[in-house]
Amino acid sequence: MRTEFCRRLGIEYPIFAFSHCRDVVAAVSRAGGIGVFGLNAYTDPTEIRAQLDWLDAHIGDRPYGIDVVIPQKHEGKGSGVTDIAAFEALLAKMIPEGHKAFRDRVLAENGVPELPPDAERMGLLGWTETSAAPALAEALRREKCVLVANALGTPPAEVVRRLQESGKLVGALCGKVGQAVRHREAGLDFVVAQGSEGGGHTGETGSIVAWPQIIDAVAPLPVLCAGGIANGRQVLAALGMGAAGVWTGSLWLTAVEAAAQPAEKALYFNASSEDTVRSRAWTGKKARVLRNAWTDAWERPDAPEPLGMPLQGLLTMEAMQRTGRCIDRPGAQRCAFAPVGQVVGMLEREESCRDIVARLVHEYLDAHERLQGLLDAGR
Ligand SMILES: Cc1cc2nc3c(=O)[nH]c(=O)nc-3n(C[C@H](O)[C@H](O)[C@H](O)COP(=O)(O)O)c2cc1C
Repeated sequence: MRTEFCRRLGIEYPIFAFSHCRDVVAAVSRAGGIGVFGLNAYTDPTEIRAQLDWLDAHIGDRPYGIDVVIPQKHEGKGSGVTDIAAFEALLAKMIPEGHKAFRDRVLAENGVPELPPDAERMGLLGWTETSAAPALAEALRREKCVLVANALGTPPAEVVRRLQESGKLVGALCGKVGQAVRHREAGLDFVVAQGSEGGGHTGETGSIVAWPQIIDAVAPLPVLCAGGIANGRQVLAALGMGAAGVWTGSLWLTAVEAAAQPAEKALYFNASSEDTVRSRAWTGKKARVLRNAWTDAWERPDAPEPLGMPLQGLLTMEAMQRTGRCIDRPGAQRCAFAPVGQVVGMLEREESCRDIVARLVHEYLDAHERLQGLLDAGR
């Protein structure tokens, strides 16, 4: 199962685990895959340092990656404001009162309590070049951080140059051939080809159609296949198409090490593959999430048009905070932010990251053997 790309990274299995949870990242890397830490929740340099210090201390001598979100286009881009607080204030002024009133109405309809007056409000996520800068600066200083991936666009040339000069491999996600080619032309080291069944922001084309087109379009650049992988048979399919590895996200949301509360994990365990939807209701860009009262509300005739990124995210942050504080209540569960791909229907029980990695490897080997048997039988 070890590919050439594994050799370059010093890992055993071509299993890339995207997670916002540092415990998952550390556990997958220790199990022979590689954890990729989604840092878009952090913009404060002190907090980022603390997170990566923890990771460096708990990952042993294994490598890891980080992931940031610098969209190609976003509201407020080109404003020239580089101070994060000032930038957030600028964006906050762009949110119409009608949108805030609609958010509060939907939460009230579902009985989600308001935040206490003294609660600390969550600010802008690292969803712009300005707000992703502290994470990138910290990653540059970390030896065990061997790769950096960007979502929603090709990273700016200056960012690519600095990361590559420090020896990191730089990649980016894409869902279309055109985006993949732009990544290659920008000199990236790898691309992540994500099909529309994946969790989080996704495009229109399904994995089985998008992967081979992207692999061919950027060859010989390594392509990591993403979107819809939760077992070893799917890993074999991706490697069989020419992938350098598989990039997974949803699979780790219900891992033992994942930080989600039991009620959140239960939402995933109880969902089927038909229960997800691509919706602009949370971030302003289409992202695959569990369909619920919140996503339905934004489709109603009285709903305003979701705002562009990152304004919609800034608006819905309060909804995430309010539901997260009382996730045991049915109303909060109906309005919870639950990004996940169609593989949610394959998530059945809590497993440790080590067991998930071992299971993927065994299932891959079984599938490989079955394929060989099929061919032998035809001789
Ligand atoms: C909860 C969740 C959050 C995600 N957030 C990000 C993100 O911040 N940055 C990113 O590059 N990809 C993000 N993704 C997408 C993953 O990197 C990955 O491409 C995707 O999960 C693969 O499809 P799968 O969910 O079927 O495994 C997210 C996915 C999930 C499930």
